Amino acid sequence: MPVPSRIGDETRTLSARPFGAAKRFPILPTPNLAWNKDTEAATAHLYERVAKVMPAIEWPFHAPYVKAINELKRERNAVILAHNYQTPEIYHCVADFVGDSLQLAKLAATSDAEIIVQGGVHFMAETSKILSPDKVVLMPDMDAGCSLAASITGADVRALRAEYPGVPIVAYVNTSADVKAEVDICCTSSNALKVVESLGAERVIMLPDRYLAENVAAQTKVKIIAWHGACEVHERFTAEEIQSYRADHPGVKIIAHPECPREVVDISDFSGSTAAMIDYVRMKKPARVLLVTECSMADNVAAETSGTEFVRPCNFCPHMKRITLPKILDALVHIREEVTVDPAIAARARVSVQRMIDLG
Ligand code: 13P
Ligand code: SF4
Repeated sequence: MPVPSRIGDETRTLSARPFGAAKRFPILPTPNLAWNKDTEAATAHLYERVAKVMPAIEWPFHAPYVKAINELKRERNAVILAHNYQTPEIYHCVADFVGDSLQLAKLAATSDAEIIVQGGVHFMAETSKILSPDKVVLMPDMDAGCSLAASITGADVRALRAEYPGVPIVAYVNTSADVKAEVDICCTSSNALKVVESLGAERVIMLPDRYLAENVAAQTKVKIIAWHGACEVHERFTAEEIQSYRADHPGVKIIAHPECPREVVDISDFSGSTAAMIDYVRMKKPARVLLVTECSMADNVAAETSGTEFVRPCNFCPHMKRITLPKILDALVHIREEVTVDPAIAARARVSVQRMIDLG
């Protein structure tokens, strides 16, 4: 499988324009963040949701923020979208919608809220803005990037198009808006194979994740031309590591995200998007499971699951972990940082995202 050698630069070309939305939404006073009997009583039901994965001693640090955020998002007519890799206090206690990249993209478009706070990384916020151009989309931390999105630019895609004339180009949603604007269709880890095969082409360019491309190539007759990007979290898993977990934990079911190297996926029992991994645990109820993905996912699933032991290899996504409760509160108080996408680029990017959604 040829891997083009150009390396793209970090492309935050459609960057935040802080405070733009603050003209429409006045800054509010910072809420009282005391830990007291009222806060304890108001949040006790939410602590129940995370009690399996969070020691009680930690809750007084989170609870004042949880209470303030939940009050403020109602006042602001805002919703919080949280990716499955967000920490349990965000995922279970303040999020309105949770899911994988595809689910979040669709939910962003259906919500009636005026403001979306993205619990996730920058490309997800851009996708929300592309699908909901009239909503204010806020990133609690603009530096929450992604090694995949940073690996390729719109100019790189144009060069690929020139090098492979007539070959359709599929972009993983983990890309910037200007990359989405240059491609024929988007995909996520849950629909990549279906998207590739829907094109009816002998050859397809898949970017930017070389491992997702290899994992799709193993399941189809379509010849895949891959870019060389990788997820810095999933590429660190090795077959040796996974085999040693299997040896140390007899009977464990191993479920790997398709951003993992091919040899890891090959020796796993199942591979799928983060949502598909969660569904596997919910439906199959394995006695022991190992989720070969970002750490917080196992916490989030363990918090709501009984009777399953979670074996935990732990690779953190440093970008996802930039999103915290204090930063979410700050976003809601100050209405910052606002994510904007040039309308002309958004219109072209929307075609690529919508083609994917229309595939069902
Ligand atoms: P999915 O949630 O679509 O499986 O993507 C995983 C991921 O790495 C997102 O950053
Ligand atoms: Fe990007 Fe990987 Fe982090 Fe997802 S887990 S945001 S793909 S670096």
